Amino acid sequence: MQFEKTKTYQNLASAFAGECQAGMRYQMIAKLAMQEDLKCLSDAIRTIAKNETFHATQFFNKMIEKAGSKENVKLDAGYPFHAGSLLEGLQFAEGDEKDEATEIYPAFATTAKEEGFEDVAALFSMIAEVEKHHNVIFNYFQQAVKDGTLYKCDKPILWICSQCGHMHVATEAWKVCPLCKAKQGYVELHLPFEGIKQ
Ligand SMILES: [Fe+2]
Ligand SMILES: [Fe+2]
Repeated sequence: MQFEKTKTYQNLASAFAGECQAGMRYQMIAKLAMQEDLKCLSDAIRTIAKNETFHATQFFNKMIEKAGSKENVKLDAGYPFHAGSLLEGLQFAEGDEKDEATEIYPAFATTAKEEGFEDVAALFSMIAEVEKHHNVIFNYFQQAVKDGTLYKCDKPILWICSQCGHMHVATEAWKVCPLCKAKQGYVELHLPFEGIKQ
């Protein structure tokens, strides 16, 4: 079957559009974090934004490999269009990542397999794994911002200033770095890596 007539052609094009938008959306959320002086949170969100633009590139390249350049790819697809506070942005991102990881990309992978495109199926599956990880991180961020626990822990842990490298073991990070006077938001984060693989 001609690739342009397959569902996988449509799915690759809409996944490219979705990843481009996610990359942009996360840059906007990173900006909101910066406005609250949460530099390390902002940097972490920017890293995820960068991941999304890499995913977009992967989908774009796969599309070109399979179908070549196109003048106009018409899409029948919907995309989230929400706005709000930093917390709301993190909550929306958490939900969007969950949808991609558990529904959208697994379904696209199944379709690609059914249509005989094992390589495209593998790409959707691998990217779904990353989005699962993103979901875990955004879930942690939205919870920590909501509860004010981004810089708190129930046991003493090592806090490091991203600016001057000052270090201290405590249950809570300093409000202002005793060495360089950077604000708390410049203290390096502790990212959650548990619960990623079931
Ligand atoms: Fe992505
Ligand atoms: Fe993602």
